[in-house]
Amino acid sequence: MPSDTSRADGARLDFAGAMSYGDYLHLDAVLGAQHPRSGDHNEMLFIVQHQASELWMKLVLHELLAARSRVREADLAPAAKMLARVARIMAQLNQSWDVLSTLTPSEYSSFRASLGSASGFQSWQYRMIEFALGARSAVMMEPHRHRPDLVAPLEALHREPSLYDEAVRLLARRGFALAPQAVERDWSEARAFDETVCEAWVRVYRDTTRHWDLYELAEKLVDLEDAFRQWRFRHATTVERIIGFKRGTGGTSGVQYLRRVQEGVLFPELWRARTAL
Ligand code: HEM
Repeated sequence: MPSDTSRADGARLDFAGAMSYGDYLHLDAVLGAQHPRSGDHNEMLFIVQHQASELWMKLVLHELLAARSRVREADLAPAAKMLARVARIMAQLNQSWDVLSTLTPSEYSSFRASLGSASGFQSWQYRMIEFALGARSAVMMEPHRHRPDLVAPLEALHREPSLYDEAVRLLARRGFALAPQAVERDWSEARAFDETVCEAWVRVYRDTTRHWDLYELAEKLVDLEDAFRQWRFRHATTVERIIGFKRGTGGTSGVQYLRRVQEGVLFPELWRARTAL
């Protein structure tokens, strides 16, 4: 039998004056942030699932904003790497709906009242991600109006070119003839489908050897929207199996609202280009 100390295999055991794993990761704060309000056993799952999703969203946003800068600088190899990571994170988030699906309607009903009006609709990071990708909707900033520290970055991002806008602007810099409004406009306005952008993507796909890095970027963007659509679909389906067609705690029509949102397209020209190929 090995002695108890030798089982540690030389690992450092005294952290009285040194930074430990928990110190580095601030685990006191992270693991001290779950505060079920109902005393119901299943509320912990609900809290952990949301918090874990928000942590992954933090990384998604970090990567997306960095990828946007790289695309702006026409440095596409690192951008592709970051977008590949985002797609893997999204795949992980999509998989995680399986855990939440173990929550039955009766279990959720036992603590639903404790949520009050709290809802993912008020997720600041989710709106930042939507804005970073290119969705534009000023009303989505309203739930954060009472928090100047949150509304200011939302407003700033809403006024800036999105990741997709930067990709389109790069097409113009690479010599594709684009309509002026595709390259310079009021970025806070929702973007409309643009035929010249679609034609440019078609040309990229028709001559991949010549436009390899743009082709790779286009596919990374499609991967991303694909994963994002799956997230929306899994969310709506999970919500339907848990609350049916009841209204959401955030006040919307619930599943009907989520299905409507699912119809939104982030990179329309990239999808339409497929029909022309
Ligand atoms: C029992 C589980 C869940 C239920 C019943 C549920 C229900 C809903 C409903 C009904 C809405 C529409 C807004 C409203 O009226 O409340 C919504 C929105 C939202 N939920 Fe969930 N949800 C659940 C889990 C999650 C999880 C785990 C996340 C991950 C962070 C999440 C993130 C969001 C986001 C980001 C929105 C806004 C969607 C948009 O406006 O496009 N939800 N949820």
